[in-house]
Amino acid sequence: MTPYRLRAAALVLALGGLGLACESEEAFPNIDELDELRSLHTLSRQPSKDGTNRVDGLAAAEALGARLFNDGTLSRCGTVSCASCHGGEGLTVDTAKAEGCGGRQTARNPPTLLNVAHSRWFMWDGRADRLWSQAVLPLTHPDEMDSDAQLVGAQLASARYRNEYHALFGKWPEEEAGPALLANVGKALAAHQRTLVRVDAPFDADVKRFIAAAEAGTAEKDPAYLGLKTFVRKGQCIVCHKSPTLSDDLFHNIGVEDTGDGSGGQWAILDSLLSWEFNAASPLSDAPAGTEAIRLQTLRTQAKQAELEGAFRTPSLRNVALTAPYMHTGGQATLEEVVDFYNDGGGTAGTFVGRKTDTIVALDLSDAEKRALVDLLKSMTGTPR
Ligand code: HEC
Ligand code: HEC
Repeated sequence: MTPYRLRAAALVLALGGLGLACESEEAFPNIDELDELRSLHTLSRQPSKDGTNRVDGLAAAEALGARLFNDGTLSRCGTVSCASCHGGEGLTVDTAKAEGCGGRQTARNPPTLLNVAHSRWFMWDGRADRLWSQAVLPLTHPDEMDSDAQLVGAQLASARYRNEYHALFGKWPEEEAGPALLANVGKALAAHQRTLVRVDAPFDADVKRFIAAAEAGTAEKDPAYLGLKTFVRKGQCIVCHKSPTLSDDLFHNIGVEDTGDGSGGQWAILDSLLSWEFNAASPLSDAPAGTEAIRLQTLRTQAKQAELEGAFRTPSLRNVALTAPYMHTGGQATLEEVVDFYNDGGGTAGTFVGRKTDTIVALDLSDAEKRALVDLLKSMTGTPR
């Protein structure tokens, strides 16, 4: 139980005996909740550099990456680019699944790439531990771009890219071994994706103003009162959607209906991530040797099946109004539907793999609280660059 719930429960017990239970609610925010609110606002435009990618932050890499991102000729069918599934304002698609080469469907909903530089893990199940290595997955996946090092290498060796590639990586594309070439293409793509930023949302200004109101003792009069109170207290959203990214960057099983191939969650990918030829501890990474391997090993040894089976990464809520449909399945069409899902305490046992986390319980929200929560989610849309 969180400290708030413990204290509230004690208060209800104490006052319950006197028949005063309904008047026991503590004023919002209490000291701990005020601290939580202070940690929520203002996401920086750019996090620190990715030490495993030596071209991260270089203008030349960002420019090359931007061209590659939009280039369908990197795919086997010649028409599917990264932008095919990560386009429009939300840098995603508006359908539950996306289409790759030959009209084949992806297994999951494409996440937005907005603010992706702030993530620690990639893919809904965390099977990529760096942004540059993630790019190898869609490039080579048969349902996505269906490509390989040879096809990608042939494009990079063409006059369109040769010189740029050489200037950045110090070798000609045709001199490069296949995995190294794919890793370098991933590093340029990552440099570009790290510029896809959308921060400074009305939410940030609202939270700042609300904190000032709380300090002045007028929190209840602030227009953001009900939304923030529901997000922080009754809804417990902040337990997982925390910090300025509005994600703990961890994996939880919240009971989203899914019994398909990709339903195993993070538990299913841990072993393959450890031995993956492109992980951050591999020779293709530019990180100092050792530290990344230790980090990955720790992840594996500390993993608990009961917690990670059917567990998916907490997505950021920033810009969430631009990225419907929702969840790793794309199975929830609107934010109203998402709020109803949480209000019901997540999905019914048997419709998903593994065990739902204890934090997800029925919420008993009023219609006004549900509406305030949806409005709050909509206020998280940042300003385009
Ligand atoms: C056919 C559609 C499709 C194409 C093409 C595609 N993606 Fe994706 N992308 C997806 C899907 C679906 C996921 C989620 C997969 C999963 O979690 O299992 C995803 C996930 C990602 C993620 C992880 C984001 C996160 O928050 O975890 C990144 C980054 C990404 N794609 C970048 C790229 C890049 C770069 C390319 C081009 C090389 C690309 N994608 C091509 C559909 C696509
Ligand atoms: C126990 C941690 C946890 C709590 C508590 C929690 N979430 Fe989530 N949230 C997640 C995870 C994990 C996902 C992705 C689940 C999946 O796809 O299987 C998610 C997904 C979402 C999404 C979909 C985002 C997208 O891009 O698809 C929204 C919106 C959302 N949560 C809002 C909320 C709100 C509002 C609350 C409070 C009522 C809340 N969450 C409470 C962990 C949590």
